[in-house]
Amino acid sequence: MCGIVGYTGTNEAAPVLLDGLAKLEYRGYDSAGIAVMEGDALQVVRRRGKVAELAHTVGHFALTGTCGIGHTRWATHGRPSEANAHPHSSCAGDIAVVHNGIIENFADLRDELAQRGHTLRSETDTEVIAHLIEEAWGASPSGSSEASGLAEAVRIASMRLVGSYGLAVTSAREPGVIITTRRDMPIIVGRAADGSYVASDAIAVLRATRDVVYLEDGQLARLSPEGIEYFDGHGKTIAPQTTHISWDMDVAEKGGYPDFMLKEIHEQPRVIRDTLAGRLVSGHMEIDELDMTSEELNLIDRVYVIACGTSYHAGLIAKEMIESWARIPTEVEVASEFRYRNPIITPTTLVVAVSQSGETADTLAAIRDARIKGARVFGITNVLGSPVARESDGVIYTKANKEIAVASTKSFLGQLVSLTLLALLLAQSKGKMRMNQIRLIFRELADTAEQVERILSDQSAIEEAARACVNATSALFVGRGMGAAIAREGALKLKEISYLHAEAYAAGEMKHGPIALIDEGFPVIAIATQSAVYEKVVSNLQEAKARGALIVAIATEGDEEIVKHADHVIYIPKVRDALSPITASVPLQLLARSIAVMRDCDVDQPRNLAKSVTVE
Ligand code: G6P
Repeated sequence: MCGIVGYTGTNEAAPVLLDGLAKLEYRGYDSAGIAVMEGDALQVVRRRGKVAELAHTVGHFALTGTCGIGHTRWATHGRPSEANAHPHSSCAGDIAVVHNGIIENFADLRDELAQRGHTLRSETDTEVIAHLIEEAWGASPSGSSEASGLAEAVRIASMRLVGSYGLAVTSAREPGVIITTRRDMPIIVGRAADGSYVASDAIAVLRATRDVVYLEDGQLARLSPEGIEYFDGHGKTIAPQTTHISWDMDVAEKGGYPDFMLKEIHEQPRVIRDTLAGRLVSGHMEIDELDMTSEELNLIDRVYVIACGTSYHAGLIAKEMIESWARIPTEVEVASEFRYRNPIITPTTLVVAVSQSGETADTLAAIRDARIKGARVFGITNVLGSPVARESDGVIYTKANKEIAVASTKSFLGQLVSLTLLALLLAQSKGKMRMNQIRLIFRELADTAEQVERILSDQSAIEEAARACVNATSALFVGRGMGAAIAREGALKLKEISYLHAEAYAAGEMKHGPIALIDEGFPVIAIATQSAVYEKVVSNLQEAKARGALIVAIATEGDEEIVKHADHVIYIPKVRDALSPITASVPLQLLARSIAVMRDCDVDQPRNLAKSVTVE
């Protein structure tokens, strides 16, 4: 979603800001803008569309100045337009604000500000912040004067805000200074030889520094070319801890691949290996970060997995494993529903929150709600120190490293591996599986890294199937058992990046409705790997074939029978059913990507989608 960058130092600010915004593009956005202090005036340039277009416009204006803020906006209040793009300015135009999050009381604040003579020029919730700062600083139409400087004015103004915010503010009245603060939105501040940096995502400052401060809720930072001062919510000076970022900049580069999605799909064998490292110690499963003894785990009698999007699909697969191995009743719910329900939660309920970004607003709200109701919460996330990690009782990191493409691939596989580990750990603690059985599955899980490598080494069948589907207007993904859950992720991937309508169904449900859709050449993509339900899936495929469907089957190597029922067969190595989501998801990711490329879509930044959804 939205992204913030800010810089004040010895270099020209505009190129630094544009470079930072380009790094944030992966989060998804629809407009962008920067404000740069030029001489004694703030110059604001905003554009609907891509950062490259903004850069073109900025070049036209030849902005000079060494202090500025920038933003990529994903529209929430007001359509994507130049007027609604950030930075937003005060009446006098001498204060500029960029904001991530949502100001829930903005309508009341707008009315109030308008009554006091402010002129608001956009439809956004953000604009009120610029005017509140203006009032707090005493140059407002109402003439009140409280604050002695920009930091104090931002602190006072932020006390009026209900909702979530990450802010960066600069003003012509205090040249060279940027104030930043946050509530429920990440803000990262860093110092380099050439100046001071702020961003909403470490990736935007990584080129300048690896030692950063993650601001806590309510804290403020005052950046100047000479240094950075930190304050708590009362304005008292504080000295927060610095965090060293160890991941490499090359995660933000394509490394020879045409797009990030393909690069990240190819990283999956490494993700499997890294996520498994150190988890089997002296023949026993260990996940120390969960911070729960075997006895405590043994008491768990109900599990809820809560998540959104792709992470929700990982949850559907986890349910099968937890129920079958640990014999604990498990429900999987989309976080946006869970948070408004009244689920049955007791002290022996375990809530597993799965979130790649660790900052999805609905998942976070569901975690908070579950903890208030007395559940123990485990987070499964990819981002160290993210809100999901911080607010859960225990956490498993998926070791996928930063994922740039909006459509989640390597994070999904990391989640599947982590959830498999969790299911095995629960089975071990409950004494529901013999240790040699757990060790065997663990070994097979480790082998999937090499099996995924094999799938990646020959993509010709996938390409061929993609060519057969590229002109379709709709597609059906089907499977049974584990295959039904994999089908859902396959359909989501396809619609996310190729804009081709796709639906997933449990194959046995086809005859109760979706079969009506099928006519000549309608693509049906089937998860037909070897399992207890293989024959049933094949029968369902025959029903579809009889009505003219174009069948693409994901099947197990050595299955020669399937060629009789499918137009295209994509073979994957044989694994036990429980581990089939790990291998079967990979060709579906590649299929979706190939179709999207053939349809000339932007696979890394699909329209309307955001990488991390930090609003409800
Ligand atoms: C967005 C992304 C999806 C992702 C979902 C959940 O919709 O576009 O790819 O699966 O959010 O995100 P999370 O970070 O919580 O896993």
